[in-house]
This record gives sequence, structure tokens and C-alpha cells, in this order.
Amino acid sequence: MSNFSDRLYDDVDSWETTMFLYNSALKEVGTKLEILNDEFQHIHRYNPIEHIKSRIKLPESIVKKLKKNGYESSIENMVKYVNDIAGVRVTCSFTSDIYRLAEMIGNQSDLKVLSIKDYIKAPKESGYKSYHMLVTVPIFLSDSVVDTKVEIQIRTIAMDFWASLEHKIYYKFEGNAPDYISRELRECAEMISKLDARMLSLNEAIKRVDAKQGR
Ligand code: GTP
Ligand code: MG
Repeated sequence: MSNFSDRLYDDVDSWETTMFLYNSALKEVGTKLEILNDEFQHIHRYNPIEHIKSRIKLPESIVKKLKKNGYESSIENMVKYVNDIAGVRVTCSFTSDIYRLAEMIGNQSDLKVLSIKDYIKAPKESGYKSYHMLVTVPIFLSDSVVDTKVEIQIRTIAMDFWASLEHKIYYKFEGNAPDYISRELRECAEMISKLDARMLSLNEAIKRVDAKQGR
């Protein structure tokens, strides 16, 4: 750990430039999402996004992840192998909003989609559901353009509720939770999915009534 920091801060310039790029990438993606949400509100009088939260991974978490995956701590390795240094979490109202938003993000010609993990169609063993996109956004500097990675996690309010609490509960056990805890959490995840499905179908029903009445 101190090893990494020593070397890192020997090279303060390149560390600062790297973090500057990730911060800029977060701003770019944040603005894109806000614009999509505003446009949606403008056209459909409806906000698909409940809220957006951005974060930069802490240096100690970056080191931990590199170590876990068997990489030496260096700026080069972190840029290459740690995909979630810049992360944006988007909380949507309904499951349908997630796919609509993901498609709109995917269609932006300056963004490159490196990978997609659909943990809604294929939930994790834990019960975790969310839609993950790894993208790069070009950052225009005075004399160059740098494609910078951002991990976008898109989920419903219900999925976010489960993930936040599961993280808190599971964290205490450091990955060794008793079987009944994991089972209960998976059952809660199923309840969450049912809740999302009911809310979605209610919303669809109300939209049909509105359409009939020309609202
Ligand atoms: P990480 O090493 O955790 O980043 O996993 P990964 O590189 O395989 O990526 P993945 O897309 O599977 O997960 C990335 C992120 O999704 C994590 O950092 C968490 O924010 C979230 N996540 C994944 N699985 C779970 C889970 O079981 N519970 C919760 N609460 N969050 C999860
Ligand atoms: Mg992560």
C-alpha cells in the first residue's frame, strides 16, 4: 500500500492528470444523463431518472482491487484493469426506463460501449439486479483527446434499496454470511422484483387510461 502511494506520488503529475481525466469523464456522463432526462421531461412530461450519483474510487480501493486481481500497483495497470474508477449510478422509476435509458446512452455517437452486464435478465447469485454499462467518453484536452472509462449502473429505486441494504448487511460478514442470511436476502430480492413488476404494470394501466381520455 505505502509502496503504491510512494510510487504514485513520485509521479504526482501523472496521478493528478489521470484523476483529472476520470473527474472530467464523470462530468461529461453526468451532463449527458441530465440532458436526456430534461429532454424526456420536455417531450413526454415525465422523468425517467429519479437521481444520479457519481463517485471516484478511493486510492486504497483501487490498490485493493489491483491486488485482488493479481496486478502490481501502477497507474498504467489501474487505467487498464480497474474499470470502475469513475462510476455513475442512475436510479430510474420503472424497469422499462432502464432499457430506454441504456439504449439512448448506447446511441450517443461519441460514447463507446465496451461492455454490458445485464444483471436484471440474469441476476447475480446474491439476488443483485442492475444494468451495468462500461463506456468510454472522449475528454478533449488542449493537445489531445483521451477516451476515459466510466462504469454506469442503472437500476430502479427498488433495486437500489435492496443493493444498498444488502451491501450493509453482507459487509459485516466479510463475504462469509451464514446460509440463512444469503437465503433471506435472495428472497427479499424476489420480493423487490415483484414490487417492480407490479408498479410497472400499474403505470402501464394508467398510461392506457390517460391515452383513452386524450390526456
Ligand atoms: P467488482 O470487482 O465488484 O467491481 O465486480 P466486477 O468487476 O465483476 O463487476 P460487476 O459488474 O459484477 O459489479 C460491479 C459493481 O456492481 C460492484 O462494485 C457493486 O457496486 C455492484 N454489485 C455487484 N454485485 C453486487 C451484489 O451482490 N450486491 C451489491 N449490493 N452490489 C453488487
Ligand atoms: Mg466495483
